[in-house]
Amino acid sequence: MIIVGDDPASRVYVNNKKKACEECGIYSEEYALPANTPEKELLELIDTLNGRKEISGILVQLPVPEHIDEKKIISAISPEKDVDAFHPINVGKIMVGDFDFVPCTPAGVMELIAESGIDVSGKECVVVGRSNIVGKPQAMLLLHKNGTVTICHSKTKNLAEKTKAADILVAAVGIPNFIKGDMIKPGAVVIDVGINRIEGKKLVGDVEFESAEKVAGAITPVPGGVGPMTIAMLMKNTVRAAVVQAEK
Ligand code: GUN
Repeated sequence: MIIVGDDPASRVYVNNKKKACEECGIYSEEYALPANTPEKELLELIDTLNGRKEISGILVQLPVPEHIDEKKIISAISPEKDVDAFHPINVGKIMVGDFDFVPCTPAGVMELIAESGIDVSGKECVVVGRSNIVGKPQAMLLLHKNGTVTICHSKTKNLAEKTKAADILVAAVGIPNFIKGDMIKPGAVVIDVGINRIEGKKLVGDVEFESAEKVAGAITPVPGGVGPMTIAMLMKNTVRAAVVQAEK
């Protein structure tokens, strides 16, 4: 795990990932680099880790400081150690439906859906948000399960009309309490990917839980819903990476 700078949210995420590794018995190393670390130094560290046989997975916590080119960093990670599945090769594999790793948050959402006994096939699935980390891969995974998928974003017109048509609604916009109960179809499955800190401390999702839970058939809370699943999927990807590398 590599963290550059001192973003407090990133610090919490990395601590949680480190703790999960300990709980699973996965050996981990943390590299906490100062915010002014030159890009070249970060690339050299990735290169060293790429070459170390006992390291199965490499994760650079995002965002990285502005002077560092995020795309260059992601592309420098060996695709077979890319446990976040952010490398263009892994993104392409997800697109064609032939992949070893799935990005952790969308994978966690799919696991929640499957474990709850919800069949995606033929359902109207609406993903609000189009990030490379969540929205886009989430849409693809739902599509692979034969959902009818709509991706909404900040330029979408009549958003409530779209969200109200969803049997499965995934909110991943990063705006606190953005999806209200009156934007949800009665009985819908509502999955809240948002983690927003408001009033300095309190964590809330992208869904206004109080109004949404009255309408939804199933709903995930924040905190404690998708967040822990993301970390569980990171552990799964890491074990998968170790297996794939051992089989080579
Ligand atoms: N920043 C926000 N989410 C993630 C994630 O899943 N992986 C990494 N590396 N950085 C993130």
